Amino acid sequence: MAKVLLGIDLGTTNTVCCRFDNSIDFVKFRGKDLLPSVLYYRDGKIIVGDAARKKAITYPGNVVFSSKTYMGDDEKNWKIQDKEFIPTEVAEEVLKEVVKEAKKAYNADECAAVITVPAYFTSKQYRETEKAAEAAGLEVIELLPEPMAASIAYGIDENKDQTIFVIDIGGGTFDVSILRIEGNEFKTIGVDGDRRLGGDDFDKVLVELCLRQLRRDFGINLSSQEKSGLDTILYKQIMRKLQFESEKAKIELSVMEETDIIIPSLIPRENGAINFQLHVTRSEFIDRSEELIDRIESITRRCLADSKCSVTDIDKVILVGGSSNILAVRELVEKIFGQSPYSDKDLSKLVAIGAAIKATGDKTLIKNKTIKVTNILSHSFGTEVVNDRFSIILPKGTEYPCKLSQTYTTVVDYQSSVRIGIYEGEDTENINNNFYYDEYNLDGIEKNLAGIPKIEVTFHFDKNKVLHVYSKDLKTGANSNREIKVR
Ligand SMILES: Nc1ncnc2c1ncn2[C@@H]1O[C@H](COP(=O)(O)OP(=O)(O)OP(=O)(O)O)[C@@H](O)[C@H]1O
Ligand SMILES: [Mg+2]
Repeated sequence: MAKVLLGIDLGTTNTVCCRFDNSIDFVKFRGKDLLPSVLYYRDGKIIVGDAARKKAITYPGNVVFSSKTYMGDDEKNWKIQDKEFIPTEVAEEVLKEVVKEAKKAYNADECAAVITVPAYFTSKQYRETEKAAEAAGLEVIELLPEPMAASIAYGIDENKDQTIFVIDIGGGTFDVSILRIEGNEFKTIGVDGDRRLGGDDFDKVLVELCLRQLRRDFGINLSSQEKSGLDTILYKQIMRKLQFESEKAKIELSVMEETDIIIPSLIPRENGAINFQLHVTRSEFIDRSEELIDRIESITRRCLADSKCSVTDIDKVILVGGSSNILAVRELVEKIFGQSPYSDKDLSKLVAIGAAIKATGDKTLIKNKTIKVTNILSHSFGTEVVNDRFSIILPKGTEYPCKLSQTYTTVVDYQSSVRIGIYEGEDTENINNNFYYDEYNLDGIEKNLAGIPKIEVTFHFDKNKVLHVYSKDLKTGANSNREIKVR
């Protein structure tokens, strides 16, 4: 049985599949290196990719875009005709298409892959990605943070030790990481990001400008379907056209000072359809994107501060992801770091290349380097304490495998049992803003006044990303443990 080793960048907008076998090549989807992460469903048939994207205008209610930003969100699903898709299922369908084409391209019966995920994904989102991959028939070698993959693709060509800052802005997620490359070792020093910030938000800036013009010139309010007075399908069709054309204009503004958004017959009317036209300059686009640029800036600075790095510690800044072509992003990087960013010719493929190298890298020597990767926790793990507060046991940024303990006590006299709730997140004041994993009771604790019993809770995050929780009453010796595969 021939098995092919792949690197897959499962992106919000585009999925890229790369194979490294002395040289780099990409699996082709309808002749292209990028597979749009778009799903279309109608009358029992699923289509993924470019063909699905093309259906979006005619059948706006049958198409799912940017589902990755909702990965792991239990509330989110898309109801299309008789079916309901959750984000994990959309990812599964995209990956099935990848598997199908990869098997064909490499004449393989099996595919094993390193799949990349945003570094700032929660453990639940890692797990959902893995589930989607397994359901698609992939053997998952590893889930690799996207900035780590980019730094491998980049670092493999450079034979010097250095600290790099990776900024990855794709279609829906924003990730930053500080990595140290020493010989063959790639070590993560800092991770931060925003799981809901990317190119889609910059498209919305231009869509907003279009809506403003339509309101002003034609008195049409498209801010919601109800306000527009249009039927659902027509409303969705118009909004999709505006989004597609706004995205095109946004990309043009990366190389041009100004452009036009032109959509003939955008809105049908009795006295003739509206032919839409809007002239937009780059400076207007940048002005209106200020809030997004500010968010990028504050997260970048927070990552430096939290990792106790100053800009002078950074040897190189690497830009990854299609949205880092936006000039305002490049200018921001120069402003913060005082150096121009390194950007590969093809920012959309760097992550898949790194993943493909990693897929083979453990077994093959590449330029005399066997890659060794050290990762850190991108979010904190801890337990619930009184008044809905969150007590962190394993702080964000800790290199793993790691094992740390905290001692707690009781709040009620003669309490015989305590509840151990297991959570991930950063909100110490209100645990409900963090992600809940599991809970259990530790029984048989010392019967005494509140504040006297001593209960030690230990969290051990092992190299396979399994969280082991141990709890023990230090007096009675009563103990109880839990094991959770968090990633
Ligand atoms: N030249 C350009 N200028 C501005 N934006 C661009 C340019 N080229 C691509 N984009 C934008 O980049 C985004 C897609 O980038 P990319 O393929 O890196 O995302 P992704 O990997 O699918 O998403 P993510 O990493 O968030 O999961 C889209 O929003 C697209 O409009
Ligand atoms: Mg990406």
